[in-house]
Amino acid sequence: MSKNTVATLKAMKENGEKISQITCYDYSTARLLDAAGINMALVGDSLGMTMQGYKDTLPVTVEEMIIYGRSVVRGCENTMVVVDMPFMSYQISPAQALENAGRIMKETGCAAIKLEGGKTVAPAIRAITDAGIPVVGHVGMTPQSTNAFGGFKVQGKGEANARRVLEDALAVQEAGAFAVTLECVPPKLAALITKKLDIITIGIGAGSGCDAQVLVCQDLLGMFKDFVPKFVKQFAQVGDQMIDAFKAYDQEVKAGTFPAPEQSFAKSDSSDEFLAQLDSEY
Ligand code: KIV
Repeated sequence: MSKNTVATLKAMKENGEKISQITCYDYSTARLLDAAGINMALVGDSLGMTMQGYKDTLPVTVEEMIIYGRSVVRGCENTMVVVDMPFMSYQISPAQALENAGRIMKETGCAAIKLEGGKTVAPAIRAITDAGIPVVGHVGMTPQSTNAFGGFKVQGKGEANARRVLEDALAVQEAGAFAVTLECVPPKLAALITKKLDIITIGIGAGSGCDAQVLVCQDLLGMFKDFVPKFVKQFAQVGDQMIDAFKAYDQEVKAGTFPAPEQSFAKSDSSDEFLAQLDSEY
């Protein structure tokens, strides 16, 4: 059993301990998150941008989430894995949402699913949680609605919008979710929502008052330079290190210095006499 479960994470919130989450899309990175003791991995549909090069998350399919999700689950012994439900896999009806959530859980082995929206998706969250599938909600800036928002914009600005974000978070809780992601929400509003909710709040661009924090892996490692959102802190410059390593490899291949004898299987080579015979035969 994983060290991080819905029950242990709830206990962390109750004890005032902060919870860490990072997005993850592959086995090798999952092994590293797990080794680092990260509490939760999110197989986010942000993989549409980070892994597939789309401009937003909308083209991602359930099948793709399952392929990436499985790889991450295989890499995590103790980190709890949450898989995103992609655009149009839950909006049509609670029955559609339940069917796809069940499929994602069955075919990946994840511990929970995440879906975007507040009041409007509450019936879908209820259907999924009633089937015993833990749900993380996602309110504030919900990237699947980027066309409706007119871009990736801060939500909860102004009184009516602040009330809407709070009511959405409350609706997600009421529907049975155990956590809710607050994305691009002003910090005082996010802290108030955290105070009002019993469930875990996971902030991204929502200040330090949330119970948990999540960042996109490529952002925190400094691997994705095209666009760095204001709320990102780059904890490393892995992108630069990768470029340096690729350049060094390229130079050694071209200079003929890689592979060196120590990277070759010289001991298994045939005798010079036999190789001379092969040379003459062909
Ligand atoms: O898809 C994703 O990575 C997310 C995070 C940004 C919270 O939803």
